[in-house]
This record gives sequence, structure tokens and C-alpha cells, in this order.
Amino acid sequence: MSDHIIKAYRSLPVTFSHGEGCYLWDSQGKRYLDALCGISVTSLGHNYAPVTTAIQQQAATLLHTSNLYSIGWQQQLADLLCRTAGMERVFFGNSGAEANEAAIKLARLHGHRRGIKTPQIVVMEHAFHGRTMATLSATGNRKVQAGFEPLVGGFVRAPYNDLASIEAIADNNRNVVALLVEPVQGEAGIVIPDTGYLAALRRICDQNDWLLMLDEIQTGMARSGKMFACQHEKVVPDVMTLAKALGNGVPIGACLANGIAAEVIQPGNHGSTFGGNPLACRAGYAVLHSMLEFGIADNAALRGEQLAVALRQGLMTNPDVVEVRHLGLLLAIQMKKPCQELVALALENGLLINVTAESVIRLLPPLIIDEAETAEIAEILIDCIHQFTG
Ligand SMILES: Cc1ncc(COP(=O)(O)O)c(C=O)c1O
Repeated sequence: MSDHIIKAYRSLPVTFSHGEGCYLWDSQGKRYLDALCGISVTSLGHNYAPVTTAIQQQAATLLHTSNLYSIGWQQQLADLLCRTAGMERVFFGNSGAEANEAAIKLARLHGHRRGIKTPQIVVMEHAFHGRTMATLSATGNRKVQAGFEPLVGGFVRAPYNDLASIEAIADNNRNVVALLVEPVQGEAGIVIPDTGYLAALRRICDQNDWLLMLDEIQTGMARSGKMFACQHEKVVPDVMTLAKALGNGVPIGACLANGIAAEVIQPGNHGSTFGGNPLACRAGYAVLHSMLEFGIADNAALRGEQLAVALRQGLMTNPDVVEVRHLGLLLAIQMKKPCQELVALALENGLLINVTAESVIRLLPPLIIDEAETAEIAEILIDCIHQFTG
């Protein structure tokens, strides 16, 4: 391990040398089933041929020109993304946090144009929106914020899945211009709101002239069993942010906008040197095109159900398991007690998983997973959990 890396991460002592489909191999040649996808990024699996080929061809053709010139693959990806999401325009950045920064700046600019001098954005308790100053301020987790004060102002916080609290803010605060929310809270432990929550937020935003801004960075790109999680409720937001699986590992973020929100950002308001470069956009295009062509969202719904059923059956008798939650292949096993040690135990047994919010096992398997691989995740993990809880 190099001493020259800033100690931002507590990385496990394993290095992967290559991957294929749902599997990774470490430098000793041991094989692992990847039920995490680098935190919801490699959703099409490792070395997915259409994406690999697109990257190789683009690397041999043109990597970067800057947004001082028009970029063909950026336009093609924008057209396909907007057609698929029912949105009008998109700004490309390089990460999820940058996509959310663009959304936050868009909302503030929209407010100022409406004559609101101190525009505010409603955000949720336990939300996660990124690690930049504005996005960590929007995040509802003190651990992410501590030590970085003064935080960026202009956020009003409400409990998640609580419509009455949003109505109360609408009644009392005339400076609100937008509401930023995850359709399912990922880092908080795959917290799935009640059916109808997003549709009700859409109604409240319409009634109060607020922009509805959905952070689909973890839930989007077919992960939830629909291409975008808001499509479960037929909700079209004013702003939607994407990143993670959009490039299947090539860094890319996107802030999509619709209606009035699509006209807010004008030349000079925002920018990014790398954002929307030919390599990232060609990879993003190959990802989205493949997901649409091969019905990846339907597979996520099918395999998510298979995995949830298998886990519930296998864990039913374990008193330390509270519940299994899922939407497509966003899965959580809520434990009664902290269970971080399970990550190392699963690793030993050839399975990659994650623990978030201390006591939630989070699974984000590849969306291309087949029946046998899904059964293998359940089998290994059930054994590990029984072993861990004794
Ligand atoms: C919902 C959500 N928003 C934003 C982010 C930040 O994305 P990035 O790490 O690419 O900046 C994440 C990352 O986990 C996320 O899950």
C-alpha cells in the first residue's frame, strides 16, 4: 500500500486485476461475485462489449476538444437521454456531486430571476447528495458535514417521506424555489418512501411554483426496475441528476432540465472543462443505448424480485434480521445491530457487498445478472449472515 495517498478511504486490502460480467478477479487470481458494482456504477457488468468497443474506438479517434466547440457525441447522448427521460435539455459534468451542484445553481438562478434574493431549497433528513461544499450542505448527515463549517446556506430540511412537513414549509416560507429529493434514499440504507410520495411532491411543487429536482444518481439508469425511479409513479421532474451508471465506470454526470428549468442556465452561468467530452459521452451513449435495446430495466425488476424472495426465505428464521427492502436491484437487508464485519466475511467467501448506515447490508448487483448468479449471491450471503449472527 502506498503511503502517498491521502487517507480519505479505509480501503480493504484487496486489489482487483480484471473483471468480466458479474465477476472480478484479484491479483492472486481469486474470483469474486460483484454484488455492489463499485456502488451502483458498473451496472452493465465488467468489460461489457458494446461499452468497451465504444471507449476503444473513441480513444483512438478523439478524446477532448472542450465546450468551446460543439461535440457530436454530447449532442447524440443529450438527444437520447432527453427522449428517454421526457426532459428537454441536459448539462454534462463529471460526477454526481457536480450534477447536483448544477441543479442547486440552476434553482438559485431561477429564484433570483423571479426576484427572490435569498432563494431556498427544501432537502431531506438523511439525504446524500455529494461531498462538494454545496452538496454536503444539502446532505442530511452530520458526519458528512462535521469539520467543514461554515456550510453553504439556503437549504431548509424536512423529514423524508413526510408530506405534512413539506406542506408546512410551503405555508410558511415564501423564499423556497425548489425541492431536491432522492426517489429512494441510497446511502441512508435504501429507504423506500410510501407509494404516491413522489406524485404528491410533484403536486406540492406545482401548487407552490417550486422546481421538483430528483437526485437519481443512485436510483437512475435502470437500477430500480425502470429507467428512472420516478417512472414508477409517472412523475416527470423539472430537474433530474444522473451519474454513476451513466458511464458504466467512465466518469460522467448529467443535470437534465425540463420546461422553465431548461431555459435558466445561459452562456456564462456554468461550465466544466471536461464535462461532456467525446469519450465520456460516447461511453454514456453506448450504456443507455444498450440498456434500452436489451431491456435491462426489466431484468433488474425480475432479478430484484428473485433476490428479495430468496433472501427473505433464507433469513426468515434469523432473529437479527429486521427486513429485506428492495426496488428493482436496489436491495437492503436491515439488521438489528451494526454489521460492518460482514463486508470482510463476504469478501472472504468471494462476494462483494456494502454496509451503509451501520446496520444495513446494501446490495447493488449488475443489472445484467442472470438467474444462477442471482441465486449464488443469495446463497453466499445467507450463509455469511447466519455465521455472523451466530
Ligand atoms: C444519491 C446520490 N447523490 C449524489 C452522489 C454523489 O455522487 P459522486 O460521488 O459521483 O459525486 C451519490 C454518491 O453516492 C449518491 O448516491
